[in-house]
Amino acid sequence: MYDPKKPTGLGLVLGQGLVTSQGELWQRQRRLMQPVFQRSNLASLLPQIVTAGNNLLARWRLLGDGAEVNLADEMMQVTLEVITQTMFSTSVLDKIEHIAPALDTLLRYAAKSVMNPLRMPLFIPTKTNREFNAASAVLDDLIYGIIGQRRAQPAAHNDLLDMLLNASDNNGEFMSDKQVRDEVMTIFTAGHETTANLLTWTLYLLARHPDVLAKLHQELDNLQGNIPTAEDLQQLVYTKAVLNESMRFRPPVGIMMRRISKNTELDGYLLKQGRLVIFSIYNIHHHPDFWQQPEQFDPERFLNAESRRFSFMPFGTGERICIGSHFALLESQLLLSMIIQHFDWQLLNTGRSRN
Ligand code: HEM
Repeated sequence: MYDPKKPTGLGLVLGQGLVTSQGELWQRQRRLMQPVFQRSNLASLLPQIVTAGNNLLARWRLLGDGAEVNLADEMMQVTLEVITQTMFSTSVLDKIEHIAPALDTLLRYAAKSVMNPLRMPLFIPTKTNREFNAASAVLDDLIYGIIGQRRAQPAAHNDLLDMLLNASDNNGEFMSDKQVRDEVMTIFTAGHETTANLLTWTLYLLARHPDVLAKLHQELDNLQGNIPTAEDLQQLVYTKAVLNESMRFRPPVGIMMRRISKNTELDGYLLKQGRLVIFSIYNIHHHPDFWQQPEQFDPERFLNAESRRFSFMPFGTGERICIGSHFALLESQLLLSMIIQHFDWQLLNTGRSRN
């Protein structure tokens, strides 16, 4: 069982945020944070997402015609800016260049710690421990610093941090500074690379499927060059279908883990209570029992209202389903529509790629 006093893996970085907490703490936090991530609440964050999108377009315009870019890096940069803008408004944009490398150092260390249970405790100043502690300090100083400022001088900022600070549980209690810090780190980590993966794969797949791209252009032409509003996004059904098919075909999170709650026989195998199982979202999304021509990228399949509860689960399923799914879709629809309306792109080295 995960022991918060001796954290390994993600727990080292995220503390006891939504991803790493269990039981009553998780339940309290999930109830408290659910309203923040409701679709209707998120519309107020659209301007911050648009700002990050406009910064991306401006950066690309400066590169000029024919520029070569690494799309995965670009999407990581824009989604990091989105999560920073929506979390803290503009107050830390000057520090954004320190956030990405610090987060990277922490997550690499966390991943290694899972493989190496005999690692040196963090207070022993080995090179990697010193790097971890320095990166932790960068992010903690930043997050606790802003929390402190907001507590001292409350003013409306219309961002996720305000929403987290103002969220209370059934007893009217708010989160401690440490809990807010853990949830901020959790949202940063869970919400940035996943969405970058979705956008990168989508742009890749569109370059490989010009017919789909042409249809997408047709839908987006209705916007007449404008940035879509929250209501417009609801109407962009083909754009949504493209994103869904992209997540089916190349799920940004490929596997999930569950602990077996009671002995279960599955296809002749005994899954023992208490054991961990890993299952593949990718395989479910490509299973011929659930999908016709699963190896074909075809957004049309998402244009009907068929229920796909157990065959399509890019955001997981059950009570631990991704809390940020509406956020991710809002962000991806918006950024995709901005990119497509203003830029054409093609792949380099297509000879080496599949699909
Ligand atoms: C395309 C983008 C995204 C994908 C594919 C994705 C996928 C997932 C998956 C598969 C899970 C595990 C669900 C389970 O165990 O059933 C998860 C959990 C989670 N995601 Fe996402 N996610 C995305 C974006 C986001 C964003 C933007 C945020 C926050 C702004 C976010 C926050 C979280 C959190 C906090 C959890 C843990 C929920 C809990 O255990 O209660 N995710 N996500």
